[in-house]
Amino acid sequence: MADVWYVGVDQVPESLAVLLNGRDRARRRQIVHETDRHLFLAAWVLARLVLGERLGRDPAALSFDRTCTHCGDRTHGKPVVETAGPALDFSLSHAGGLAVVAVSDRAVGVDVEDTTAGAQPLAPALTERERETCLSYADFARLWTRKEAVLKAVGKGLAIHPGRIEVLGATLRALPEELGRPEDYALCDLPLPAPYVGSLAVRGSEPSPSVRSGAKRVSDAARVWSA
Ligand SMILES: CC(C)(COP(=O)(O)OP(=O)(O)OC[C@H]1O[C@@H](n2cnc3c(N)ncnc32)[C@H](O)[C@@H]1OP(=O)(O)O)[C@@H](O)C(=O)NCCC(=O)NCCS
Repeated sequence: MADVWYVGVDQVPESLAVLLNGRDRARRRQIVHETDRHLFLAAWVLARLVLGERLGRDPAALSFDRTCTHCGDRTHGKPVVETAGPALDFSLSHAGGLAVVAVSDRAVGVDVEDTTAGAQPLAPALTERERETCLSYADFARLWTRKEAVLKAVGKGLAIHPGRIEVLGATLRALPEELGRPEDYALCDLPLPAPYVGSLAVRGSEPSPSVRSGAKRVSDAARVWSA
């Protein structure tokens, strides 16, 4: 089972930066553009609120391990909640003005893209059969979220070349052998507000997530934490 929450960047007040710890703040300071800094805030405030509630812990007291399972570097791997144990996994994604957080008791990956961004598809990132399914940028954006959701669920991100996995429709068809079997992961598209598309990958059978706006949760938290 997976829960997915999303929030618009404008729905998260700066005052909720009190929830970030020193490491988050240092990472945030390194982001060049103000809009991206605020998007980072929105994503991590939402993640802390959702995870804090799920674990029954103070959201501001959570800390995250980012050790990369590919190279061992401690700064750029998939974030996991320290001391939460293997029974909780989460994934976050931000694009344009939307932040999305997925939480599950199984390995999970989420990705969101803005269909108006209009970036050119990177041909080598797609297999030949995938390229045939992309007639527009919106098709590419959808496919890309499915592929990246899988790469995030396995915890490798783009350390694995995206051309090494293949997604046709909402089905994972090919996965590098060292990461498991394609049938180990289930994919689904997320109902997100336009112009965003997003996908979720979960290890195991059908994900059938609940997908909700986190706006009220954030505004409730703002009343408590900004007081
Ligand atoms: C992070 C990544 C998966 C997706 O980036 P993106 O589409 O630009 O951005 P998204 O907003 O969708 O996702 C970013 C979030 O994914 C998460 N993430 C980072 N690495 C991850 C990984 N290996 N697996 C799963 N999730 C990861 C983080 O929470 C990150 O958000 P944060 O930087 O605010 O903490 C991709 O940029 C990546 O893999 N980068 C690292 C490549 C790498 O590790 N190279 C060297 C390996 S030795």
